[in-house]
Amino acid sequence: MEYRPRGDHNAQVSRSEPRSDPRVVTMNIVVSNVKGGVGKTTTTVYLAAAAVERGWDPVTLIDADRQASSAEWFEASPIDGVDLLEAPSERTVARAMTNHDGLAVVDTPPGDERIVRAALDRADAVIIPTRAGGVEYSRVVATLEMIGSDTPCGVVVCAARLGTNDLHEAIAWWTESKVPIWGVIPERVGIAAGPEARLYRDGLEAYDAVLRKVLRKRSG
Ligand SMILES: Nc1ncnc2c1ncn2[C@@H]1O[C@H](COP(=O)(O)OP(=O)(O)O)[C@@H](O)[C@H]1O
Ligand SMILES: [Mg+2]
Repeated sequence: MEYRPRGDHNAQVSRSEPRSDPRVVTMNIVVSNVKGGVGKTTTTVYLAAAAVERGWDPVTLIDADRQASSAEWFEASPIDGVDLLEAPSERTVARAMTNHDGLAVVDTPPGDERIVRAALDRADAVIIPTRAGGVEYSRVVATLEMIGSDTPCGVVVCAARLGTNDLHEAIAWWTESKVPIWGVIPERVGIAAGPEARLYRDGLEAYDAVLRKVLRKRSG
């Protein structure tokens, strides 16, 4: 059964009811990789936007990175239906992840292991953005080792060059390692533009497919 956002699932719950209503479905998706520059912030922002399109309400983007790239993205280019919460410490990220309802997507820093662990410990699912190319594997494995064995997790290959050997090898490597591949996002100028442009339609669709995979895992 697919995991349903509150709109579909609990149509009788009106918006005026208290936010602590226990019937409300909540979920925390953490986006993490100990390496920087792989696509964490891009993935977080696109997933949050895809969740709004899928009917989740509220959607919270929790920025746990002191560099505040998600927060800066939002300042330049806010996304309708997404609330931004800056939480760049162990304590604030823990609180942010327990104090919302609906769906939250959490952007994490590349270093700062304590903050990352605080987020991973509270994750309902973890997405690990990565790139195709041999040097990337060890960093993903290091990230996987920080994730609890009961927490569903999968990799998303970002800025992928379709049809290249690097990409084929990466897919084969993850398949052999039995790490689920939750998505392959093509390299696109429209995605690289970040907050300088509107969210790129093909990117939103690619990330919507990732979100659907995550939600299916969560319910199973
Ligand atoms: N699908 C994509 N196509 C093109 N560029 C991408 C794509 N995904 C990410 N990027 C670019 O890769 C760089 C690193 O991405 P970012 O999300 O900032 O990574 P991180 O948060 O892990 O440091 C950014 O310049 C971003 O625009
Ligand atoms: Mg980032």
